[in-house]
Amino acid sequence: MLSTTLNRSGARIRTLTAAAALALLTVFLAPAAPADASAPLRQHAAARGKFIGAALATGPLSNETQYRTLAAGEFNQITAENAMKWDATEPSQGQFNFSGADAIMNFAQQNDQQVHGHTLVWHSQTPTWVQNLPATAMREAMRNHIDTVAGRYADNPALVSWDVVNEVFEENGSLRTSFWYNTLGQSYIADAFRYARAADPDARLCINDYNVEGINAKSTAMYNLVRSLRQQNVPVDCVGFQSHLAIQYGFPNDLQQNLQRFADLGVQVRITELDVRMQMPRDASKDATQATYYRNVVNACLAVTACAGVTIWGITDRHSWVPDTFPGEGAALIYNENYQTKPAYTAVHDALAGGTGNDTTPPTTPGTPAASGVTSSSASLSWAASTDSGGSGLAGYNVYREQGATDTLLGQSATNSTTLTGLTADTEYQVYVRARDGAGNLSTPSATVTFETSAGGGPGGPCTATGTIQTQWNNGYVVQPVTVTNTGSATLNGWTVTFTLPAGHTLAGSWNATLTTSGQTVTAKSVSYNGTLAPNAATSFGFQVNRPSGNTQTPSGYTCASP
Ligand code: XIL
Repeated sequence: MLSTTLNRSGARIRTLTAAAALALLTVFLAPAAPADASAPLRQHAAARGKFIGAALATGPLSNETQYRTLAAGEFNQITAENAMKWDATEPSQGQFNFSGADAIMNFAQQNDQQVHGHTLVWHSQTPTWVQNLPATAMREAMRNHIDTVAGRYADNPALVSWDVVNEVFEENGSLRTSFWYNTLGQSYIADAFRYARAADPDARLCINDYNVEGINAKSTAMYNLVRSLRQQNVPVDCVGFQSHLAIQYGFPNDLQQNLQRFADLGVQVRITELDVRMQMPRDASKDATQATYYRNVVNACLAVTACAGVTIWGITDRHSWVPDTFPGEGAALIYNENYQTKPAYTAVHDALAGGTGNDTTPPTTPGTPAASGVTSSSASLSWAASTDSGGSGLAGYNVYREQGATDTLLGQSATNSTTLTGLTADTEYQVYVRARDGAGNLSTPSATVTFETSAGGGPGGPCTATGTIQTQWNNGYVVQPVTVTNTGSATLNGWTVTFTLPAGHTLAGSWNATLTTSGQTVTAKSVSYNGTLAPNAATSFGFQVNRPSGNTQTPSGYTCASP
């Protein structure tokens, strides 16, 4: 059965429902060792030589039996969610309060758990008396705080590591202009590590941050700082990747690669604050995507020898920082508000339990992809999700182009949709999808979808478009100019530029072009005064975008066609 439709940009989309592609592979089914459903997370983690941790809040730890039972039974490492921060431990100068911190330490010792200390030096949750000190006094206050707090637990074998500095970078990779930096300059970082080593010579000393899970400007700045500190013999032993993820912003597919590049510097790496939030309300499909994120993070850590383990930033959706911090979002943890396990729990469990050696059962075959938003260089695909029962769990999907003997891998996706970019204009693509599990087993191919990219250059000749980020801030940016150049030999009579906005980004305004959107694909058409372009001539337009707070992505896949 063939059905052909035309999309808005004139590209053809055809769905092939014949099972031809299915015959390409022989299905290899072997019984997999099922994960022991009854064993807690900590038992499986220990068997793999990793920790599985949780951040604990002292309130529910003292008030709620279920909280205590899960905290003790499922996790072999704990972090104080707030109790070891400066505002809790030294609210006024020289007046230390260790009631919460000691409660965490005692709980860990009773339950044979390790403690990751969090955090000695941070710009947040630090009292104003610290922030207002002049330089010499501030440095001395930092030394005394580290000496007293880290020193208190130095002889306690449960305390294994400290976040010495937390969140020292801006999103663009420059050092955060916190009161620490503004008063002491960048040397406060090396000093903090040296003071911590002196206070607790046996603890692993970590630098910790968020939005550093993938390879980007911020994680590369962190990489360069860690390398340079270690070259100067500053005692940095460990790098923490907070991993506050959200299903609507996409999974950092290069997480494992990023962990590995830090590991190659000789440091331990760890996932320190994992949670995966979603826009509320929860539903089964979001839960399934969330589970995939959790599974992929655990598998990335398992795949990197120097990754010590994974800490989840809480236990239950009943007590999570997410709804207060990200309005409208929530359900980020592996137990629901009533302490029932969610698919994310099963994903973490099976990833820790499954190993990769004994799962030979591939995931089920994905549904036939549907193509939409086809342009001269990009196309969006979505398909019905696969499931995996072999133990290692669904890890994601590979998208291939059918090309006879050797099919080309066009892209990978953690979820059951993706946008292909960098496609050739005016070309027919026949693509199919295979699901991947945590052990690397590939499903049989889905049926194929056929689409044809639109023409890259019209009657007037081809053109190019390049976008420049003029300015950006925490939750938005301006692209100016997008330069449109006539690279052909004839005059253009009108031009059309398309590009893709990352998930969650929305247009906030534009100038010198007429912009329309279809999903995340934006089409910009010339206006009356800039459509006529002589050969080699250029013109430009611009636009502004809102993006989720903390997200650092920018548009991609600029293509130009005429008219
Ligand atoms: C959060 C806690 O979860 C909240 O209870 C508190 O109100 C604010 O801090 N990065 C960190 C953690 O390093 O300390 C933060 O914890 C979350 C972001």
